[in-house]
Formats: sequence, structure tokens, C-alpha cells
Amino acid sequence: MSSEKTLRELADENDVTIGAGVPARSFRQYPDDPTLAQTLKREFNAITTANALKMGPLRPERKVYDFDDADAIVNFGVENDMTVRGHTLLWHKQTPEWFLAWDYTDDQLEAFVRDHIHTVAGRYHDKVDVWDVVNEAVADDGSMRETMWYEAMGEAYLDKAFEWANDVAPNADLYYNDYEIASDNDKADAVYDLLQRLLDRGVPIDGVGIQMHSLPSYQHSREGPEAVGANIRRFKDLGLDVQVTEMDVAYGPDEEFDDRLEHQAQYYRDVLEACLDNGCDTLITWGVHDAGTWLQNRYDVTSDPLLFDENFNPKPAYDAIRDLLESRS
Ligand code: XIL
Repeated sequence: MSSEKTLRELADENDVTIGAGVPARSFRQYPDDPTLAQTLKREFNAITTANALKMGPLRPERKVYDFDDADAIVNFGVENDMTVRGHTLLWHKQTPEWFLAWDYTDDQLEAFVRDHIHTVAGRYHDKVDVWDVVNEAVADDGSMRETMWYEAMGEAYLDKAFEWANDVAPNADLYYNDYEIASDNDKADAVYDLLQRLLDRGVPIDGVGIQMHSLPSYQHSREGPEAVGANIRRFKDLGLDVQVTEMDVAYGPDEEFDDRLEHQAQYYRDVLEACLDNGCDTLITWGVHDAGTWLQNRYDVTSDPLLFDENFNPKPAYDAIRDLLESRS
């Protein structure tokens, strides 16, 4: 007979971290409905700031930081004894409009990024446990992505970003995070080589986050557990921790089949098992319930990629990972 234990209880028993990335809008959208908060604290032992700490939402003007949304999510995590993941200090997307219009020199950009990281990581030095320091630095073809950070500082921007984060948040785990690196492919190989170079240069990096948006357009984030497990193992063998940081499982319009939610459940279970069997102890989903997914209103993918349905009822995917943890308790 199965126990009545929650996902969080089983995760705690197994020393496993099960988290959710939460947009602040979810907190605001349900101000009088405690369901989101209740589900989060009952079922998850980790939380990620999905958008609130990105430079765009965080910095409406050059000299103005708006920490309200980030504080709400971070403090919720601290109060509920969850592992808090800050996402993300440096990304080429969701930058503020004023930033895009700013005609800076390379030196000015470097000083700006240093100040940004010192301010943001410093503010949460005793609250954020894990930082996605740099997000998506490698392009789909495996070359270094030619972002504004790369143009101004070259590859050394990663070294600097991790060092600046480490200056002010020495106790946080510092991660590189990217998509399409869940299996052995050209981009994953390029990320592996990049991480090797960072480690060779003594950069203070602790881990690599595999986003794991399992969507039809991301072919390498839908591969089987053996490929995923082997890839986790090779990153681990670099001496880095590995976490699944942004998982969701969606299908294309031509992939409508009767047992879609069972298939989704099996894939969540397979990925968690590949993770646990290969020394990765964390799986974070990109949202809590289907009504809050970033994939709503897209014509090309199904919009029910998460563990809970739009009414916060647990789905087969929830049962699947819960059962897996129970079988390992
Ligand atoms: C997404 C958010 O979920 C959306 O709300 C936002 O409009 C765009 O960004 N990889 C990442 C995340 O690292 O930050 C992205 O989040 C999803 C892809």
C-alpha cells in the first residue's frame, strides 16, 4: 500500500532536491488563493526565481533596482526551509530596454557587470544557496555565443562573472546553466570543453545546470535515460555537480496521442532516475502547475508540461516521481 507521504517528504528522506521555478506573476496572480504557496511548500524543497532576478525585470532604470518580486520569492523559500536558486546573474535575454540603448565602451560594460553581480549576489549572500551565474553562453552550433558580454570581454567574461559572484557570495554554489546539453551532442561537447577550460583556469564554479525543457524543438532534451545518464556522468567526472534545473515536458501538435500524460510521467521518472543513478540529486521543474507554465498560448506545443494540473491536482507525472522516490526510500 502506498504511503501518504508528500513528494517533499520523500525527497527529504532520500536527500533529493525537488524544486520549482516560480514567476512572481504566479504569486501576484493568486493573491487570495493560497493554493500555489501551499502546494509549493508542501511538495517542493527548493524554489527558483524564474524571472524576478533577470536583469530586465530587476532593473527598470539604470540606477533603479526593483527587488520586490525577487524578495518575495527568495524570502518565501527561506521561510519555508527550501533551497533557493537565484536565476540568473548574466544572460543575453531579458535585458532592460535602456541597457540595449546604452552606447557603452568595453570597460564600462565590464564595470557595469561587476557592479550588477556584486549588488545582486551580495544582497542575497545569506539567502540564495545556488546561483545560475551565467546562462546559455554557448550557441546551438557549439561556438561561443556572441553576446554583449562576450563582445566586450571575450570568454574571460565567464571567469570574471564567477569570480565576482564568489567575492560576495562565497558560500553559494555557483552554476553554469544551459539547454540542449542533456545528452552527447555538439553543443553539450562544447559546453563540456568550456567547463574544462574554466576549471583549468581555476574559476570558482561548482556545477552545471541542465535545463531539460523537453519540447519537440529541443531534440537533445528528449533523449532516453541512458544517454542522459551518461552525459550527467561525464560532467560529474569533471568534478562538477550536476542538476536538472528547468524541466518541463511538452509535445507538438502532431504528437497528440491518447496516453500523452502517461508518456510524460514516464519521461519525468526516467530523467529523475538517470539523475539519481548518476550522482545528480536535484530536479527542478519550470513551474508548479500547468496554468503557470511559460508554454501557455503557444501554438506549437502542448501547454500542460508540469507535475500539477491547472487546479493544482497532481498528475501522473507527480505520481511517477513520487513513486520512484518512495521505491528508493
Ligand atoms: C523563460 C520564462 O519562463 C518566461 O516567463 C520568460 O518570458 C522567458 O524566459 N531558459 C531559461 C529561462 O533559462 O530563464 C527561460 O524562462 C526559459 C528558457
